[in-house]
Amino acid sequence: TIIPVLLSGGSGSRLWPVSRERFPKQLLNLCGDRTMIQETALRVGRDFGFADPIVICNQEHRFAIAEQLQEVGIRPTELVLEPFGRNTAPAAAVAALLAARRDPQALVLLLPADHAILSPNAFRVAVAKGAVAAQQGKLVTFGIQPTSPETGYGYIEKGEPVSGADGAFAVKQFAEKPKLDVAQAYLAGGRHLWNSGMFLFRADRFVAELERHAPDALAAADASIEAARVDLDFLRLDTDAFARAPNISIDFAVMEKTDSAAVVPCDIGWTDVGAWSALWDIAEKDGGGNAVLGDAILVDASNNLVRGEVGLTALVGVKDLVVITTDDAVLVADRARVQDVKAVVDRLKAEG
Ligand code: GDD
Ligand code: MG
Repeated sequence: TIIPVLLSGGSGSRLWPVSRERFPKQLLNLCGDRTMIQETALRVGRDFGFADPIVICNQEHRFAIAEQLQEVGIRPTELVLEPFGRNTAPAAAVAALLAARRDPQALVLLLPADHAILSPNAFRVAVAKGAVAAQQGKLVTFGIQPTSPETGYGYIEKGEPVSGADGAFAVKQFAEKPKLDVAQAYLAGGRHLWNSGMFLFRADRFVAELERHAPDALAAADASIEAARVDLDFLRLDTDAFARAPNISIDFAVMEKTDSAAVVPCDIGWTDVGAWSALWDIAEKDGGGNAVLGDAILVDASNNLVRGEVGLTALVGVKDLVVITTDDAVLVADRARVQDVKAVVDRLKAEG
């Protein structure tokens, strides 16, 4: 069986004003009937033959996460609390070490808790293919056909097929968050895939790669587990030990460096729901191309995303807008400029 690991550490600042630091996007119902972490956990639930998950999150979110998972019948074997975020490499190291204690050869499926996957069946087929390569010792990534020169993603150059693992290919090169001109060249070249940010590996193999490429992250993760404290249903990592972990992503720390990466290209309706435009992309729309959630009246309006959480929202004669209302904030943005919503959050933080 495969042990899913749910990574819940981001704050989703480009989805302001709905996503807030104290209640980030993985805890929200943004698309679908459930919150993103619920959808993520159910996608790899027991019904599909997966083991109960390990969850690793910021301690501030512990009660919301425990409650949301319980609500959908998911029982994590460990709900690990970080005192603060150190990006994904230390979190992944903690999860791999915990899984390895159970069984060194256990397969670990690392999943961001805040991605949407429109074809969960195709996703599980890709995971099954990846599992064969992972068993052989590969660190498996899931590659998405790129559609734009996005600089916020990792790029994977696909190599030769992995023998004995149908659907898996060696990774020639992994380039995390390239500059725009490089991303444009990758897109034009047609040989690169986006890294979806989901990983599948044998626990012992990942630990070995950490030992080689990120020993300080591994050591800090190990020490923070050794000195961890059990608190109710939670495992609190030791603050001092975890503080010694470098702030680095799994992509920079391991994936760019390892010789053992493989990729399973897949078409699974994946999006990391990075910004409001991604939600418009996947939402159901009316005849005018508007995606509307909540109480709204639209007159001669087209291709807008409206999410009204309070009162009534009306749009007249406008197009390509994002209009979001919550009980204490309103966002009106050009749909092509929603990446810059982060600037609002930055300003709010600066002003305290
Ligand atoms: N527990 C924990 N602790 N989780 C974390 C932390 C942390 O300190 N930091 C981030 N995460 C979680 C986030 O909540 C998210 O679900 C996932 O790990 C990935 O982190 P991001 O910060 O969103 O990474 P990214 O989007 O910049 O880049 C990654 O994802 C891209 C696809 O969305 C990389 O893997 C890229 O290569 C990839 O293309
Ligand atoms: Mg992300």
